[in-house]
Amino acid sequence: MKKLSTLTRLLVCAGLAFVGFTAQAQDVKGSAAAGNGKVWLCVGCHSIPDYRADYPLVYRVPMLGGQNAAYIASSLAEYKKGNRKHPTMRSIAASLSDQDMADIGEYYAAQTASSPNNPLK
Ligand code: HEC
Repeated sequence: MKKLSTLTRLLVCAGLAFVGFTAQAQDVKGSAAAGNGKVWLCVGCHSIPDYRADYPLVYRVPMLGGQNAAYIASSLAEYKKGNRKHPTMRSIAASLSDQDMADIGEYYAAQTASSPNNPLK
C-alpha cells in the first residue's frame, strides 16, 4: 500500500513536471489580428514616410510594415532590456509584454513597406 502511494506521488510529480516543461517550451506565438489592436500608439510616428522624431529631429523613424516579425519583436525586447537606447522607444517597449511584441511583429510583417499601416480589415 505504501509502495503504491509513493508511486502515485511520483507519477503526479512527473505529470506536473511535464506540464511545466511543455508550457515553457512553447514559444510565444504572435497574431496579426491581435496586433491590430495594439499599434494605435505606434502609427503616429511609424506610418509617416521620412518622419523624424525627437528634438532636434535627428532620429529617422523606420517604417515597420513588411519587416520580419521576429526582428520587430526582438527589437522591441532589446529596447525593453535597454540594449537599444532610443528613450521614447524604451519607454514604449517597457509597457509591452512578450505576447504584445509577438502580436505587433506579426501585424507589421503582414503589411508592406509602402502600406500606410492601416488597421487590418
Ligand atoms: C515618438 C515616436 C515613436 C513612437 C510613438 C513609436 N516609435 Fe518606434 N521608433 C521611433 C524611432 C525614432 C525609432 C528609431 C530609434 C533608433 O534609432 O533606435 C524607432 C524604432 C522602432 C523599432 C526598430 C525598427 C528597426 O528597423 O530597427 C521598432 C520595432 C519600433 N520602433 C516599434 C514601435 C512600436 C511597436 C511602437 C508602438 C507600440 C512604436 N515603435 C512607437 C519612434 C517612435
